[in-house]
Amino acid sequence: MQLENLFRFLKKIKKQSMLPLHSPDISVKDYNILKDCIKSTNISTYSNYVKLFENKLKKYTKSKYVIATNSGTSALHLALMSFDIDEGDEILIPSLNYVAPANAIIYCNGSPHFVDVNKKTLSVDIEKLENYLKKILLKKKNFFLNKVTKKKVRGMIAFHPFGHAVEIDKLKKVLKKYKLFLIEDAAEAMGTFFKKKHIGTYGDVGILSFNGNKIISTGGGGAVITNKKIKAMKILQLATISREKHKFEFIYKGLGYNYRMPGLNAALGISQLNKLNDLIKKKRIISKKYERFFKSTKNITYFKEPKNCKSNYWLNTIILEKNNLRIRNKFIRKCIKNGIQVRPIWKPLHTLSYLKKFPRMKLSSTSILMKKILSLPSSPNIKL
Ligand SMILES: Cc1ncc(COP(=O)(O)O)c(C=O)c1O
Repeated sequence: MQLENLFRFLKKIKKQSMLPLHSPDISVKDYNILKDCIKSTNISTYSNYVKLFENKLKKYTKSKYVIATNSGTSALHLALMSFDIDEGDEILIPSLNYVAPANAIIYCNGSPHFVDVNKKTLSVDIEKLENYLKKILLKKKNFFLNKVTKKKVRGMIAFHPFGHAVEIDKLKKVLKKYKLFLIEDAAEAMGTFFKKKHIGTYGDVGILSFNGNKIISTGGGGAVITNKKIKAMKILQLATISREKHKFEFIYKGLGYNYRMPGLNAALGISQLNKLNDLIKKKRIISKKYERFFKSTKNITYFKEPKNCKSNYWLNTIILEKNNLRIRNKFIRKCIKNGIQVRPIWKPLHTLSYLKKFPRMKLSSTSILMKKILSLPSSPNIKL
């Protein structure tokens, strides 16, 4: 019944044949900067548009170093590589997560170690994590060992779901106790602040994504942000095929990756970043309207920004009271059939066939939440 009301509500919003989950905001200024970039022929990874975009990102996030990449996934890979992961090293990640962090860990020959999420924040359950680490970790000289697998536990990749920040300062304290590094996966959180500091700048290293469905888009793209010079230098080297600076010789210092963002994408990033604050304003108005609608809707909780967080409200998301997959999927099918894109949360990573073998804690909240979370159409230009 409540989902029936929601369906009618979404149908009213749908003005065209399709109501997408999140489409990018493309305007004349975006066309113009792309035209200028193409005219200049500065479209490659060596383009000055890349430097300009990075400088703008530095200013916005107040990060000392920014390396623009060709995706958020490559940014995650490079962020992890900067910690010199050894074979089998365990990196903690929530299981209720996008697949990129797990893949990036495996690219580095590490081992994802799945942790549970909190029912309120939908990201890592910090208290549960603290108790778990107390139980499973064994202190060695300079690091902590997993008593069960006998592997080193090195750090965590924590993400900020749908643009809302987790209590990242609290998490950082817990990780510090066990000498664990923190990579902040802020792929969904460009423009989100926690205690007035941009998300992604609390961790040792943070990453952003600018793929087609994010709040601002470069088509495809991402960035690593950090205040640590040595890490930034290493990441930049790896992203540029480890090529030495030389006027004409091609000398490579070691294994490297072609992960740099091309100028054409960076040009779009510049005009997109110029309007980020306006987009956030629009999205916060949309979120208020959704919130009002769900106030009068029983059995559905609207996922709001937590205390101390000013969210970009990337995706408006709800939590259904009943964990009934049949009802949820019936609703999704009906929406899709009617040109309304709604999206369930990802399947928990520990349930994917190639990830089943990796260590995990008891994932009780994950197992329930996987059936209950839905994201709703959230493009900045929708009229509610
Ligand atoms: C939480 C999270 N991490 C990582 C990524 C990877 O970013 P990309 O798609 O740019 O590789 C995404 C986006 O898709 C994401 O939502």
